[in-house]
Amino acid sequence: MNLTMIGSGYVGLVSGACFAEFGANVTCVDKDESKINALLNGKIPIYEPGLDDLVERNVKAGRLSFSLELEKAVKNSDLIFIAVGTPTRRGDGHADLKYVYAAAEEIASYLDGYTVIVDKSTVPVGTAREVARVIAKTNPDADFDVASNPEFLREGSAIGDFMRPDRVVLGIESDRAETLLRELYRPLNLISAPIHVTNLESAELIKYASNAFLATKISFINEISQLCEKVGADVHSVAKGMGMDKRIGNKFLHAGPGYGGSCFPKDTLALIRIAQEHGSSCRIVESVVEVNAAQKAAMVSKIRSAMGDSVSGKKIGVLGLAFKPETDDMRDAPALSILPALLDKGAEVKAHDPESMEEAKKILPETLQYCDNLDEVVTDADAVVLMTEWNQYRGLDLEDVISKMKGNVFIDLRNVYENETMQKYGFEYFCVGR
Ligand code: UGA
Repeated sequence: MNLTMIGSGYVGLVSGACFAEFGANVTCVDKDESKINALLNGKIPIYEPGLDDLVERNVKAGRLSFSLELEKAVKNSDLIFIAVGTPTRRGDGHADLKYVYAAAEEIASYLDGYTVIVDKSTVPVGTAREVARVIAKTNPDADFDVASNPEFLREGSAIGDFMRPDRVVLGIESDRAETLLRELYRPLNLISAPIHVTNLESAELIKYASNAFLATKISFINEISQLCEKVGADVHSVAKGMGMDKRIGNKFLHAGPGYGGSCFPKDTLALIRIAQEHGSSCRIVESVVEVNAAQKAAMVSKIRSAMGDSVSGKKIGVLGLAFKPETDDMRDAPALSILPALLDKGAEVKAHDPESMEEAKKILPETLQYCDNLDEVVTDADAVVLMTEWNQYRGLDLEDVISKMKGNVFIDLRNVYENETMQKYGFEYFCVGR
């Protein structure tokens, strides 16, 4: 089976490499020359555990290649995946579809024989039908179907999510397209991964509704964490007790500094806009977005009050910048709103992150100092803030840390440590909802 992946960003690259691993011949195409050149030279432009090995193996096996030339790839393809970016459009919160439609228009004239065009990008309801319209208008003779195949990959564990999915969602409206897509995903039959076939609109909505629901769980537990602090409850224990009910489940109930990343913030806003456009209300998701912003702001207040109501002139060492561990992605990371607020209030902030410092330098204020190692972050700090729960911050040598610090305040925004242990080492310990 020959496949073109348009867009070699996070989703396109991971999906392309995984489809190649399944046995398909995949060409990943991108307009970004530097990205394609890097990939041709064996360099992976993003940090995702296991992706480098997967790419290398499949390139060597001749199943995975990279190209700037769309025409050749499209002509040879049975399936074409559109995996270009759909960023939030500036000003109105809509997903920006210009790259999706540009891709549709461009491939239309190159189509040669029956081809299935699959939307993999996260796109508003109705986009697949519009893609079909654009292709049919540009090339009335084209023999094609469109399908929607949203991804459910988490950054940091994307390959595992692809290889062992909870489900594969296929929005398809023709038997011919269904046969091809089922064949592509056939290796997953071995692990009995469920394939949910539905219409185009439902598949598109499943993606937004799933992300919005997960974001709802997080905002819900974050709001409960605030109440826990007021009434003397422990949010860990509350979440555990709730999660034991199988109808609720124990996943995505970790209180923290608010969700970030390239998906939840963008997709919750887009879902609200989709609902508005169709005259439907989306009040729960609106609240989820509000609560998330409030949670990030509450973290700034928490840090201030832990430091005696003022951070001015204080030295704060920050562990972690990325929106979650195992990624260098800084998009909508809580650090992006929390750290500028601390710097504005006169704090001297230095930070470390195993992977995201290069990205962070592009977007965080220049006054933020970057450290090469943990020692530098904690030395002379009045307070240490644990922002992202990388493994290397989970097992800190606490005795060493406190001996190097000037103060003894430790603010754990990810609830990694336990109060009693921290007190034993002499820390004044603050966390979220406990
Ligand atoms: C998310 C979804 O989990 C994927 O299923 C989806 O495919 C992806 O978005 C997407 O649409 O592409 P991702 O953004 O990579 O994946 O990361 P998550 O692990 O879901 O975490 C998102 C944010 O929520 C992070 O900031 C994380 O720290 C936060 N989070 C997560 C919590 O604060 N508490 C939790 O219990 C779980």
